[in-house]
Amino acid sequence: MARVLLLIPSRTYRTHDFMQAASGLGVEVVVGSDHRSALAALMEGGQVRLDFHDLAGSTQRIVALARDHPLNAVVAVDDTGTLLAASAAEALGLPHNPVDAVEAARDKALMRQRFSAAGLLTPGFRTVEVDEDPARVATTVRFPCVVKPLDLSGSQGVVKADNADGFPDVLARVRAIVAGCQRDGMRPAVLVEDFIAGDEVAVEALLRNGWLDLLAIFDKPDPLNGPFFEETIYVTPSRLTTERQAEIADTTARAARALGLTHGPIHAELRINDRGIWMLELAARSIGGLCSRTLRFGSGISLEELILRHAAGLPMPVHDRERHAAGVMMLPIPSDGRLKVVAGQAEARQVPGVDGLVITIPPGEQLVPLPEGDRYLGFMFARADSPAAVEAALRQAHAQLRIVTDA
Ligand SMILES: Nc1ncnc2c1ncn2[C@@H]1O[C@H](COP(=O)(O)OP(=O)(O)O)[C@@H](O)[C@H]1O
Ligand SMILES: [Mg+2]
Repeated sequence: MARVLLLIPSRTYRTHDFMQAASGLGVEVVVGSDHRSALAALMEGGQVRLDFHDLAGSTQRIVALARDHPLNAVVAVDDTGTLLAASAAEALGLPHNPVDAVEAARDKALMRQRFSAAGLLTPGFRTVEVDEDPARVATTVRFPCVVKPLDLSGSQGVVKADNADGFPDVLARVRAIVAGCQRDGMRPAVLVEDFIAGDEVAVEALLRNGWLDLLAIFDKPDPLNGPFFEETIYVTPSRLTTERQAEIADTTARAARALGLTHGPIHAELRINDRGIWMLELAARSIGGLCSRTLRFGSGISLEELILRHAAGLPMPVHDRERHAAGVMMLPIPSDGRLKVVAGQAEARQVPGVDGLVITIPPGEQLVPLPEGDRYLGFMFARADSPAAVEAALRQAHAQLRIVTDA
């Protein structure tokens, strides 16, 4: 029986889907987590407490663990564990991404450098250190620009600035968000880059020996023009032409090569305008939140099953995406307040095509909208004959929901 170490941070949406895939495959899971209660809740089998930011120490612990319980793979369920997964797999002689490549994928400034050195179309950028004067920096950047943290995700702290007058406030706001998330080893600098107008797509793929196995291209039909970049609807298959989609896959493969990634899941975001296809970012992990539930492959295989099969060296069945169009809406948080209830859920579920709704923030918790917030309200799923019908179902169902707070 294959044994896989799953790196599961305390704050992730991905635990259930990975555990379920592992159990369906008969893969034995050892959970590596930074959180005692997360472990206690999960554990029947093996477990190991790991500090994901102490690469050397945690790699050693994993090597020690593997002496008694040999591992076939180390898999990070999301961003937080990707570096440790690479480092531990390297120490164990298992297939892995180079640590240096994962580092580049985790640092948006390093990523821009690699993309631009490889000749990919990518926004002009500069980093801004904590002690730099905002008004001075404003004279060195082009507008509109986007100010963002170097290593957060989910659009947290990503803010557009339209002109030099507004820039100091935007920079101060993003700096405060970065300072609020500060932990050891995190750079307090921020990235400032050209705003690239255009349509956005996301690419889900598996790197197999450096070869890009394209799993899905998602359109993001809601315009993302700022000032904040709340992602909402993802729909697949893409409505772009076959040629465009091939170019997108090719650009993503070049971007993965530019970073040096070769192994396992990637999630990329690209923008398309009349100048071409722009690489926004590429992460060495699968799609975030519960969004993977839109994807079914072959005879109903989940994305997590494909990732685990690939990681553990199990046979890869035919895995074309299903024939239906599918989509997800990440439910945005429009304003702050303490959540009382999300009303209208039954009505939303009844909209034809809607096949799932999960509210992920429990009543009583504080809602924080972007750019400061780091969570979605929940996820709504739809399947239909066409991408347009999926999109319409999600919009219609969303209109049924009412967020009640005691703000
Ligand atoms: N340079 C840019 N030009 C246009 N839009 C951008 C740019 N950078 C980020 N965005 C928008 O903000 C979103 C989040 O930014 P991203 O760099 O992907 O950070 P995160 O890691 O938080 O997802 C992107 O999906 C895109 O819509
Ligand atoms: Mg992103």
